Amino acid sequence: MTYYVTTPIYYVNDAPHLGHAYTTLAADVLARWHRRRGEDVWFLTGTDEHGQKILRTAQQNGVGPQEWADRLVHDSWQPLWQHLEIANDDFIRTTQRRHTDRVQEFVQDLYDRGEIYKGGYEGPYCVGCEEYKLPGELIDGEGEYAGQKLCPIHRKPVEMLQEENYFFRLSAYADRLLDHYAANPDFIQPESARNEVVNFVRQGLQDLSISRSTFDWGVPVPWDDKHVIYVWVDALLNYATAVGYNENPEKFASTFPADVHLVGKDILRFHAIIWPAMLLANGLPLPGRIAANGWLMVGGEKMSKSNLTGIRPQDLTSHFGVDAYRWYFLRAIAFGQDGSFSWEDFTARYTSELANDYGNLASRVTAMVGKYFGGTLPEATAVGEAEQAIHDGLTRAVAEADRRIGDELDFQGGIVAVFGFIKQVNGYLTEQEPWKVAKDESPEGRARLATILYTAAESLRAIAVLLDPVMPETSRKLWDSLGAETSLGALADQRIQESGEWGRLPAGTTVTKGAVLFPRLEEAPAT
Ligand code: MSP
Repeated sequence: MTYYVTTPIYYVNDAPHLGHAYTTLAADVLARWHRRRGEDVWFLTGTDEHGQKILRTAQQNGVGPQEWADRLVHDSWQPLWQHLEIANDDFIRTTQRRHTDRVQEFVQDLYDRGEIYKGGYEGPYCVGCEEYKLPGELIDGEGEYAGQKLCPIHRKPVEMLQEENYFFRLSAYADRLLDHYAANPDFIQPESARNEVVNFVRQGLQDLSISRSTFDWGVPVPWDDKHVIYVWVDALLNYATAVGYNENPEKFASTFPADVHLVGKDILRFHAIIWPAMLLANGLPLPGRIAANGWLMVGGEKMSKSNLTGIRPQDLTSHFGVDAYRWYFLRAIAFGQDGSFSWEDFTARYTSELANDYGNLASRVTAMVGKYFGGTLPEATAVGEAEQAIHDGLTRAVAEADRRIGDELDFQGGIVAVFGFIKQVNGYLTEQEPWKVAKDESPEGRARLATILYTAAESLRAIAVLLDPVMPETSRKLWDSLGAETSLGALADQRIQESGEWGRLPAGTTVTKGAVLFPRLEEAPAT
């Protein structure tokens, strides 16, 4: 079976900002981690291109919606994922035929099963969310919006919509959903997200309007082409159409449903309520887990383009580098909680954890192997208690990082476990003082020095493997400078499970002092 991970498919109304990149990075690290476990992985991302929001943006820019979407995908979204080394296996766009045809089939099937009926609806609609809101959720506007009701997420006025549409019998699924949540406590993560969904469903569900007839930028309803399918129903189905629903039964059977859907907490209900209800209605299996991440905040508000707080990832990678960027948000914010970004915090962590702890360890050790052993990794012949403590520390770090990242999606906890080990190895060097031992030229002194440097280099070998999913470029550099490729093969072929086995890097390997892993930062740009 394939380990199948997804990100939300992003709206192409604008260019990506840090918030979008955050969810995608978490998914990428998770996918890479499972690949390093030797599992067969399928990592899907893509773009959500239909609906009123995209249509309006395109109109405001004086182009057709398809042209607008093409431009954004080719000029903004795909280049960013490449820049950030996102290793997705597929990229689905909801305007592709492989998707739209299957969406029609899925909805037709629901219709044939009597799950869809025609009805009328009137209610407040937020175009930003592409969702009807419940009157009780709205907040009162102030200032320029005084007297109006606002969407609590976008803080923009909602529009009253009255339409005759097709409805999906969502209300009929409340009990089955509650049963599923109860039987599968890990289905929704974190706990706070799960509680929110359970409480919401307990209050009863309304049927869902799944078509629109006031605009036509969408997939036509197959039995009534005056309607297009509601953009969220269209979008959620990407998780099925991209892996061969109704098209490639073999691929579909081995991949679907997803093991993990990573989503921002703003779109949790769509994934934890509507999506599973659609699958139940169609007789398809439910995903393993819906994991909600918190929001990146700026000035106490969700970072977003609509409130002009969206920061471009490239503004940070040009200063800190891609790997540090990949590392920072997962390291600094507990996954599932909100977090804020600041240049000061990023700079402080870069300097202390990446440059001083990790970067220095790598450069000290490789330099000393060069200086004292001509660049040939010596054998550890005088192993004692101090070395045993390092072996044990590594075993613990591997087990903990694997459990936290691979199983619990606790990226912060996993990264902290590996950096705890880095600190331990630094502490070991400080205590053993190889630079002093080097002055003792007796056979015992040489054996001691060899043992210390072997222990540190072998630790770096494991660290390179463990941090590869998070910082792939850094791990490649370190792998090179340890000369590991010749003796152990490609970094991509290393397994997490074996990374804690002591003594894998053979003595005799050629070690070189490579480029500095985390260069000193330039002066931060004025903000
Ligand atoms: N198109 C829908 C998703 C359909 S999935 C079947 C959508 N797109 S979106 O472009 O608005 O962004 C979706 C996701 O981007 C959020 O759910 C979240 O994962 C991520 N983020 C956007 N802004 C964010 C923050 N400020 N902070 C963290 N993540 C945020 O909704």
